[in-house]
Amino acid sequence: MQEINASIPVDKRLWEEDIAASRAHAAMLGAQGIITAADARAIDAGLAEIAGEFARDGVPVDLALEDIHMTVESRLKEIAGEPAGRLHTARSRNDQVATDFRLWVRSACERIDAGLKDLQAALLTRAEEHAASIMPGFTHLQVAQPVTLGHHLLAYVEMAARDRGRFFDARARLNESPLGAAALAGTGFAIDRDATAKALGFARPMANSIDAVSDRDFALEFCAAAAIAALHLSRLAEEIVIWASQPFGFVALPDAWSTGSSIMPQKRNPDAAELVRGRAGLLLGAFQRLAVIVKGLPLTYSKDLQDDKETVFGAFDALALSLAALTGMVETLTFRTDRMRALAASGFSTATDLADWLVREAGVPFREAHHIVGACVKRSEELGVELSALPAAEAAAIHAAVTPEALAALTVEASVASRISYGGTAPERVRQAIAAARAALES
Ligand code: ARG
Repeated sequence: MQEINASIPVDKRLWEEDIAASRAHAAMLGAQGIITAADARAIDAGLAEIAGEFARDGVPVDLALEDIHMTVESRLKEIAGEPAGRLHTARSRNDQVATDFRLWVRSACERIDAGLKDLQAALLTRAEEHAASIMPGFTHLQVAQPVTLGHHLLAYVEMAARDRGRFFDARARLNESPLGAAALAGTGFAIDRDATAKALGFARPMANSIDAVSDRDFALEFCAAAAIAALHLSRLAEEIVIWASQPFGFVALPDAWSTGSSIMPQKRNPDAAELVRGRAGLLLGAFQRLAVIVKGLPLTYSKDLQDDKETVFGAFDALALSLAALTGMVETLTFRTDRMRALAASGFSTATDLADWLVREAGVPFREAHHIVGACVKRSEELGVELSALPAAEAAAIHAAVTPEALAALTVEASVASRISYGGTAPERVRQAIAAARAALES
């Protein structure tokens, strides 16, 4: 029974929040005259002492004490004696755990935000270096059109910005205090829920005591935001894996972020990126697990809810570590811009530019231009040449508008430089986007 019932091995991570919430509660009980001022002082001094002990020596794990709430209270009894028994007046572990956990998730949102911000800063630094470096842009993992590496990296800065927005929103919504809901129905003692809410930095007390002890949607929101962020990280990790492979050769990983093989001496494997990619599974699973825990639960508290913490802690740890690892990789990997530049022209990647040229310079309708360029690509393929090297006579045979001048305009440099629409890949646009992202990051 103890083994299945006890949560202390997991919820010991809530010790700071538990002690903070108990200190707020005891101060309120004293201020309201529910316990004496002397008892409130004794409790507070005892809790402060426990905080010092736990910070120094860690939290003792005794399954007989079940969870962090009982662990703190039992130690308080040893230190403060009789007044300790008055701390639990007008509260229950149900509002206590909901309060502690909200405080923890609130700070987790802040810590993940800081990690996402670090990743953005690293991406921005690399984007600045490579605002004009040309690489192939892909659709279907087929070379599509040339883009700038800076532009590609900025795409992840945008994703991270939305991820941060999700954690910000989750934090704002969860920031209400369950404390004082007691077991589920509220309490007959003249408590001051506004005071405890304020002391703990909550915006206000939760309005419904039944909701306060039952709800875990704040934890679900955290897991949902974490899962979406993890999917973004996984895509970046996947690109690093692909780019680091020899057929691509777009990046070289530093020794610090690659591993060798026990048999093949030449190997440099992108293990960290692969683990970030794989761990997105854990994060998606965390949301799923918590959703299933909550799904069929009648109001109010059932012990199923105890497993919310292991789920959220696991998601937090995986995401925080993934962020740190990816940030380290982004900061230190070497971009092989020569290789990227060479492949940017492959696959007739400037074919769209030729179609655009025919539209702009020769007044050809786009659909017809698309058809003409298709024929040019086919002929170039047959001849085994780049589009720009299609012989003038061959080009003229396809359509009179495909002049040597048109073919000469088909460099990857001209292609990216022409993409000046807002949000486009032209180096000048990328530099503007970097400046805007920098300003947003620093504001
Ligand atoms: N350890 C419990 C949890 O994490 C605390 C709440 C216990 N409440 C109860 N009614 N048994 O959920």
